[in-house]
Amino acid sequence: MTDTRKISNLALIGFMGAGKSSVGRLVANTLHFTFLDTDDVIEARAGKSITDIFAQQGEPAFRQLECGLVEELTHRDRTVISTGGGLPINPANLASLKTHALVVCLWASAEKIFERVRHQTHRPLLNNPDPLGKIRSLLAAREPFYHQADVLVNTEMRSIKEVAHQVIHQLRLAQSAHR
Ligand code: S3P
Repeated sequence: MTDTRKISNLALIGFMGAGKSSVGRLVANTLHFTFLDTDDVIEARAGKSITDIFAQQGEPAFRQLECGLVEELTHRDRTVISTGGGLPINPANLASLKTHALVVCLWASAEKIFERVRHQTHRPLLNNPDPLGKIRSLLAAREPFYHQADVLVNTEMRSIKEVAHQVIHQLRLAQSAHR
């Protein structure tokens, strides 16, 4: 982080099931920030689910929608942004978020993620005969991107409340260092 960096917002990145939305909502409530989930905005604008966007338009079209939305976020203030798990794979997205937000990655192992998402069905990428294998390979491929966050918070042994507390602490530290 450079001293000239402005930190008006908080962006949560990390793999599916890392807890970005739950933690993000709690952080936003606590700080009286607006909460924004990139997947929710994309679904509302498209008038269909992420699953349908993937099925009807393909993943590249979804990634374009993500990228366009990220650009719009540069004008936000006091917003907690919860991002889709694949969003930071595009370096332009991460670079853009870093111009206005503290970027925090919520981390969990593939096994922990599998435990959290195994009964959910709304994620097209995990709609796979071997979801744990898919999680392992995707997580390994994405790890270098997630590690470019400003802060990494391990969520494995922490409750949502504890993770939120840790995230708020990191945001306060960053804001006081960049005032
Ligand atoms: C994706 C994660 C999902 C959603 C889409 C693709 C990914 O968001 O954006 O299904 O590539 O990891 P969550 O991380 O909120 O589940």
